[in-house]
Amino acid sequence: MERDKALKIVEKQLTEHRYVHTIGVMETATYLAEKYNENVEKAELSAIFHDYAKFRSKEEMKQIISEQKFSPLLLEYNSELWHAPVGAFLVEKEVGIKDHAILDAIKFHTSGRPYMSLLEKIIYVADYIEPGRHFPGVDEVRELAEINIDKALIKSLQNTIMFLLKKNQAVYPDTIQTYNWLVLEGGRTI
Ligand SMILES: [Fe+2]
Ligand SMILES: [Fe+2]
Repeated sequence: MERDKALKIVEKQLTEHRYVHTIGVMETATYLAEKYNENVEKAELSAIFHDYAKFRSKEEMKQIISEQKFSPLLLEYNSELWHAPVGAFLVEKEVGIKDHAILDAIKFHTSGRPYMSLLEKIIYVADYIEPGRHFPGVDEVRELAEINIDKALIKSLQNTIMFLLKKNQAVYPDTIQTYNWLVLEGGRTI
């Protein structure tokens, strides 16, 4: 799918603020894809659609998670996680994207997962460091992303986990497992 067509489709789903964020993720993801020899078109489309379901109602997202038999654990954790798997499902169903590498990059962009692909890593990190992001620690991840995508990913997961711990919030198991995989196995993908 052409970039302009994809952007037109996603613009209708998002607020202006979230659309600007999406453009930032797209630019960062294509930059990282070139840098780390990943498919630039796939990175571009994954980034454009990564937050496709961000503004669906909780009821709709809950229903899709149950009907599609996504992990029931999701419903016990922060609803901020839900738009990722729901987004992958809706992008396939409503937009017609069938490429599983792209759909998985969308599906795991909030939690990560052990053995995540390079494309999944790029979307996760791009979402974290796009130019519109301003929070403590983001510059360190930006610097690491220039050198080593796995180190950037570890740092962003550490920051996310620490942030949740400080707020007495639960950490989704996949996120902890992704962190452990990176530390114990150095981010080796199958
Ligand atoms: Fe998101
Ligand atoms: Fe995002």
